[in-house]
Amino acid sequence: TRKIILDCDPGHDDAVAIILAGGNDKIDLLGITTVGGNQTLPKVTHNALSVLRVARLTEVPVFAGCARPLVRDVEVAEGIHGDSGLDGVELPEPVTSVGDQHAVDFIIETVMANEPHTVTLVPTGPLTNIALAVRKEPRLAERVQEVVLMGGGYHTGNWSAVAEFNIKVDPEAAHIVFNEKWPLTMVGLDLTHQALATPEVEEDIRGIGSQCSEFVLGLFGFFRQAYKEQQGFDNPPVHDPCTIAYLIDPSVVSTRKVPLDVELNGTLTVGMTVADFRAPAPDGCTTQVAVKLDHAAFWKMVVDSIRAVETR
Ligand code: BDR
Ligand code: CA
Repeated sequence: TRKIILDCDPGHDDAVAIILAGGNDKIDLLGITTVGGNQTLPKVTHNALSVLRVARLTEVPVFAGCARPLVRDVEVAEGIHGDSGLDGVELPEPVTSVGDQHAVDFIIETVMANEPHTVTLVPTGPLTNIALAVRKEPRLAERVQEVVLMGGGYHTGNWSAVAEFNIKVDPEAAHIVFNEKWPLTMVGLDLTHQALATPEVEEDIRGIGSQCSEFVLGLFGFFRQAYKEQQGFDNPPVHDPCTIAYLIDPSVVSTRKVPLDVELNGTLTVGMTVADFRAPAPDGCTTQVAVKLDHAAFWKMVVDSIRAVETR
């Protein structure tokens, strides 16, 4: 199994990432940390706890992290995720509460308490918590197994012409995370725009006929409409669980090694993740990008994880 900490901002697709991580026995979900992103920190933290109730994962601890980016002002994705951050469903009242520890300290303590190279960080929101954690405890960079994040793109965008939301709202944090020496996989828009929730996928989920499957369908209904209106998609891209799918079975997501960096100064390009494809990646290159998704295998994993909720 792979031990992970999921650092997220639920968020429709973050919710699916939680369900997939909790419902697959190849993943050991050590904890969930939250960060202000899709909605404000109090909202996304509440959402994480609600999702854990729906997914019957109430033993997973939750820790709240940073409420705002390192340098810039708070910017939420209300148009895509709604006022609650999880619009489209009735959110059940959480049955557990958030831990006392700050997310950054939970991340540091957990990684340092485990054997070297056994804990993977999976950020699916802005990178504020992860950046602060590695600045506070620099040994994290050699201690974690790897960082597998949803964010960025080469060179496409959804929050500007060339920048993706998670990177664009806290580019300084992303710059820190992309320039550390840990192995880093960028699961960006190039990959996640292949993770489309088609009507066939929705039918498979509907067939499960459980509270959790209805919850996911409610999320997809809102997400479908939002992505159609805001970004012209016929079917919504369900970004965040692609990171978990890659960790469950790397053959589901093909990757390519390439040097990566984050633009901080461009007047048109701030938050762009710059991939240098001019030559084969040099020896010692620690960064790679996700390229191609096995759509059928990915959605089978997700559907199976929703089904697994009933057996817990
Ligand atoms: C990313 O931004 C958020 O809206 C989603 O949850 C995902 O993490 C996609 O750009
Ligand atoms: Ca997210």
